[in-house]
Amino acid sequence: SAAEKGGYDYFMLKEIAEQPQAIAETLLGRLTEQGEIRLDEVRLTDQDLRDVDKIFIVACGTSFHTGMVAKYAIEHWTRIPCEVELASEFRYRDPVLDRSTLVVTISQSGETMDTLMALRHAKDQKARVLAICNTNGSTIPRESDAVLYTHGGPEIAVASTKAFLTQLVACYLIGLHLAQVRGIKYADEVGAVVAQLQEMPDKLRTLLDRMGPVRELARDLASSNTVLFIGRHVGYPVALEGALKLKELAYMHAEGFAAGELKHGPIALIDQGTPVVCVVPSPAGRGMLHDKIVSNIQEVRARGARTIVIAEDGDEAVLPYADHLISVPRTPTLLAPLVTTVPLQVLACEIAAARGHDVDQPRNLAKSVTVE
Ligand code: AGP
Repeated sequence: SAAEKGGYDYFMLKEIAEQPQAIAETLLGRLTEQGEIRLDEVRLTDQDLRDVDKIFIVACGTSFHTGMVAKYAIEHWTRIPCEVELASEFRYRDPVLDRSTLVVTISQSGETMDTLMALRHAKDQKARVLAICNTNGSTIPRESDAVLYTHGGPEIAVASTKAFLTQLVACYLIGLHLAQVRGIKYADEVGAVVAQLQEMPDKLRTLLDRMGPVRELARDLASSNTVLFIGRHVGYPVALEGALKLKELAYMHAEGFAAGELKHGPIALIDQGTPVVCVVPSPAGRGMLHDKIVSNIQEVRARGARTIVIAEDGDEAVLPYADHLISVPRTPTLLAPLVTTVPLQVLACEIAAARGHDVDQPRNLAKSVTVE
């Protein structure tokens, strides 16, 4: 009913709007004023965490995209090798696991069969298993050694939105906590990142207030046959997520690419007017990342693409190459997916609505996939 949707046309729009609160709830009680991470609920001792010499993240769909972002953050902060793998592939290739391996599953529902089977396989191999989950008492956390719940509240729309953002926050907390416990070099960064995480709910409120032009753009793109998404570093999983949302809701051909891979093949897809969404990292961020994607944007535009550029406030370098500019609040590189994903959620939702589809219940899909 309309009341359940809190005045929004779709649960998805309601859940997109709930993201600032969902993030605040997921941070609540887990940060100290001294800038430390407290994850007492995760029943792994500090010694257990010091013994970890390899991390595998396993998940499906949007939760897998969370894992891809998490890999960049966790490896950077902890220097522990971290792999991310689709749950449906993981156990079939005989991964190398032992007592010092930490396997992190990410699942909104906690009932995804592929992820559950991967978790059981990891346990059989004596790995320690930690679940990131949004659903209290569901099967995956029940069977895990430890759990970190995301406090996103129930997610009704089939397309995952607030679960994704809160999963990212949970992964950041785990990475920072591991860095702290192990006392490695990047432990110095923890305090600063904690402060940045605390600013996220406000940043997201600012961002959500600016979605008018994205809705207009959506109406414009609704008749496209295809939309491509490009990104680098953590912008790459964001590009994949933007494309997944569009496929599942708008039934439109959409694909995400690592921007550096374009020249190895996909650039041949670009034709006059092909929409290409470009996820741009902060110019203040790591090394050459920003310059590299600016040249990728130039390359696609030179071949006729219509560019939709998601860039940080005040990023002037992208202006000459952006047919449409979507500005997002300034955010450090590793945390940027928390903001850059939001316009892509809105875009997919509005394109699907403009095409007359049932946004909350897309065809052929179920909210939790309980078959392998
Ligand atoms: C997201 O929009 C999808 N509907 C889907 O990819 C989902 O993320 C995936 O099935 C995993 O679900 P889970 O997080 O509940 O395990």
